Amino acid sequence: MKDYKKRILITGGAGFIGSHAVRHFVNKYPEYLIVNLDKLTYAGNLMNLRDVENKPNYRFVKGDITDYDTVKKVFDDYGIDTVIHFAAESHVDRSIENPDDFVKTNVLGTVNLLNAAKSSWKDYEGKTFYHISTDEVYGSLGDTGKFTEQTPYDPHSPYSASKAASDHFVRAYYHTYGLPVVISNASNNYGPYQFPEKLIPLIINNILEQKPLPVYGKGENVRDWLYVEDHVKGIDTVLHKGKKGETYNIGGENERKNIEVVEKLCEITDELTGRTPGESKKLIRFVKDRAGHDWRYALDISKIKNELGWRPETDFDEGLRKTVRWYLDNKEWLDNVTSGEYRHYYERMYKNRGV
Ligand code: NAD
Ligand code: DAU
Repeated sequence: MKDYKKRILITGGAGFIGSHAVRHFVNKYPEYLIVNLDKLTYAGNLMNLRDVENKPNYRFVKGDITDYDTVKKVFDDYGIDTVIHFAAESHVDRSIENPDDFVKTNVLGTVNLLNAAKSSWKDYEGKTFYHISTDEVYGSLGDTGKFTEQTPYDPHSPYSASKAASDHFVRAYYHTYGLPVVISNASNNYGPYQFPEKLIPLIINNILEQKPLPVYGKGENVRDWLYVEDHVKGIDTVLHKGKKGETYNIGGENERKNIEVVEKLCEITDELTGRTPGESKKLIRFVKDRAGHDWRYALDISKIKNELGWRPETDFDEGLRKTVRWYLDNKEWLDNVTSGEYRHYYERMYKNRGV
C-alpha cells in the first residue's frame, strides 16, 4: 500500500457538497488518498467529478452505506483512517413525501459506518470520524436569536429528525466507545452542482426555462446562506483543527427572506442573459406552503471563528452571481439532471401547488 499521510473515506462524494469536498481534498492534499463511496442515487452524479476522476490519489466505489459488507470492505481494501460522512437523503420536501429512505440512509447508514470504523480501527490514534450535519436539527427560530452548539435539538421535518438521530448516534459512539468523532452543523449551502430541487438551483432553472417561480407561503421564511466552497474550507478546518467529541456550527452570516433570494436571482439572471430588467420577476408565484415549514434558521458561528480561525468569505451577491453564471455555462449538466426522473418529481411536487 502506498504511504499516504491520510486515507480518507468520503461518503456521498458524488452529491452537491460532497463533490466540492472531493475536489478540494484531492487537489489540495496529493499526499492524502481520497476514496469516494456513493450509491449514485438521483442526487449523485459522476459528471460532478469529471475534473478529478483521473487523479492518482482518487478512487470511486459505487456502493450503499446501508450495506455493512460494502462499507467494511472499503475500510479493509483502502486502510481507511478518516471518514468524512456526507451521504444522506438531503431534501426536506422528499422527506415529507416519503420518510422511509431518510431513516434508512441517514440513520441506519450512519450507524453502519460507525460500526465499520469501530471494528476496523484497532486503536484510535490518528483516526477521525467526521459527521456532516445540518442546522435544521435545532428546530426553528422566531424573528430573533441564533442557534448555538448548546441549543437543544428540536427537529421538525422527517429529514431533520433523521439527521438529529444520526448526530445522537455519532455522539453516543464517542461517549460509549471513545470513537474519535467530530460533528459540524451547517446552514443552507448554495453554489455550482446543486441539484435543482433546492430553492436556488430550482429558481435558476425555472427562470432559464421561463417557467413559474414557486415561492412557498408568503416567501418570508428566512434561511442563512453559505457558499459551498466556504463550507468545504470550514470542513477542512474542523478536520485538521477540531477537537474530538466537539460540535462546530458553520454558517454564512447571510440571512435572507426567500422572496429576497428569488428576486435577486431574477435580477442577476436577467442581467447575465441580456433580458429586459424586471422580466423574470413576473414569473414569481406564491404557492401552497410546505407542511411544518420552519420559520427561520440562523447560526451563531463564534465557536469556529474564535477557536479554529475559520470564517465565511463569500459575499452573498457575488456568490449568487457565480452560481448563476455556472448554471448558464453548464447547460449540458442542467439538461442532463432535469431530464428523466426530475420531470416526474417536479410534476408530483408542484402540480398540487398550481404551478
Ligand atoms: P445531496 O443530496 O446533493 O447528495 C447526497 C449524496 O449522497 C449523493 O451523491 C447520493 O448519491 C449519496 N447517497 C445517498 N444515499 C446513499 C447511500 N445509501 N449510500 C451511499 N451514498 C448515498 O446532498 P448535499 O446537499 O450535498 O448534502 C450532503 C450532506 O450535507 C448531507 O449529509 C446533508 O444532510 C448535509 N447538509 C446539507 C446542507 C445543504 O444545504 N445542502 C446543509 C447542511 C448540511
Ligand atoms: O439548513 C440546512 C438545510 O438546508 C440542509 O440540511 C438541507 O439538506 C437543505 O435541503 C436545506 O433545507 P431547506 O429546506 O432550507 O432548503 P430548500 O432549498 O428546500 O428550501 C429553502 C427555502 O425555500 C425554504 O424556506 C423553502 C423555500 N422553497 C423551497 C423550494 C424548493 C420555496 O419557497 N420554493 C421551493 O420551490
